[in-house]
Amino acid sequence: MPEMETAQFETDLSLFKYDNLEQLPPAYRDLEEAERTERIEAALGELGDDVVILGHNYQRREIVEHADFVGDSYGLSKRAAEADADYVVFGGVTFMAESADIITDDDQTVILPSMEASCPMAGMAEALQVDAAWAEITAAAPDENIVPVTYMNSYADLKAFCAEQGGLVCTSSNAHRAFAYALERGDKVLFLPDKHLGENTAHRLGMEDEIAEWDPWDPEGKDADEVVANDIILWDGYCQVHERFRESHITDVREEHPDANVIVHPECRREVVEAADEAGSTATITETIENADPGETWAIGTEIHLTHHLQRWHPEVEVLALCGEACMDCNAMRQIDPNYLAWVLEELVEGRERNVIEVAPEEKELAQVALDRMLEV
Ligand code: 13P
Ligand code: SF4
Repeated sequence: MPEMETAQFETDLSLFKYDNLEQLPPAYRDLEEAERTERIEAALGELGDDVVILGHNYQRREIVEHADFVGDSYGLSKRAAEADADYVVFGGVTFMAESADIITDDDQTVILPSMEASCPMAGMAEALQVDAAWAEITAAAPDENIVPVTYMNSYADLKAFCAEQGGLVCTSSNAHRAFAYALERGDKVLFLPDKHLGENTAHRLGMEDEIAEWDPWDPEGKDADEVVANDIILWDGYCQVHERFRESHITDVREEHPDANVIVHPECRREVVEAADEAGSTATITETIENADPGETWAIGTEIHLTHHLQRWHPEVEVLALCGEACMDCNAMRQIDPNYLAWVLEELVEGRERNVIEVAPEEKELAQVALDRMLEV
């Protein structure tokens, strides 16, 4: 088992990446929706072009309604790159806000309304751990070039690590292109942290016989010498929200709604993606429902807020939650409470910046290389 030692990346193994966490002042805790909406709109009116609000598809209705742009991780990172506002207020999770900070200019400030919005999957591949595992895996294949590819759902220090090793970032919408990029430049891919997206991508590329799952700290698992016999090596991370979906949910929904089409996110298990009619990023899911004919039925296998948005936005389509009441919301995304949004905006009006996400300069430059490579593939 690899020892965790690194001189380059000083990472704490913790769920929350930022320790300057500011709690919501009591005066904001019990705002009624009507008053809050009015105050948010008033603050936005005062701030004008100085602020842009980006909202991930999994955000609550009360956040999405105030967003200038709602989209998937890839779309949001492109919007952040294009934004010229002084402040980018990010309705999303820490790794997304970090990426926005990396991509935006130095004089732009990224604000994450609540610092508690940390994706558990991003915490499953800490740079410190990966650095230690990397030493082991590269020693096991000294004549081969392994290229690390990290999912956007990872912290900036891991993105920096990947850039340094010739790798890049991907999202669920371009993972297949990122794998192709890596395999053009190297012999093998180490994909982090989502094993399901990795497995689904390998299948998409016809490389299903080349997959090895790797947990370097599992005494029962494969060791480095065994995994390097394969071209696609998958870190053992996963999303709890998407792992919940089972093939039986698809069977059940088809039994009850024989005309139903099923679309799922590629963070779902392989057998779920295989049984579905389609799979794609949250933007692909959204576009699929936008393009559906009135009267069509679609069962959605992803985080429940997006399913609810789609039901609201497209009443002409019958939109079902794939596992009904059992479908989960993302606890990290839910931390972006609209009261926090009201607070950070009103503070900006007063000239005070709250909950600023600032990636360390030594990580920023390299992480930008990994993100730029993604934007180019
Ligand atoms: P998308 O890139 O599809 O928006 O997904 C992000 C995410 O966190 C899914 O769980
Ligand atoms: Fe992370 Fe899963 Fe939430 Fe996406 S849905 S932010 S992968 S925990």
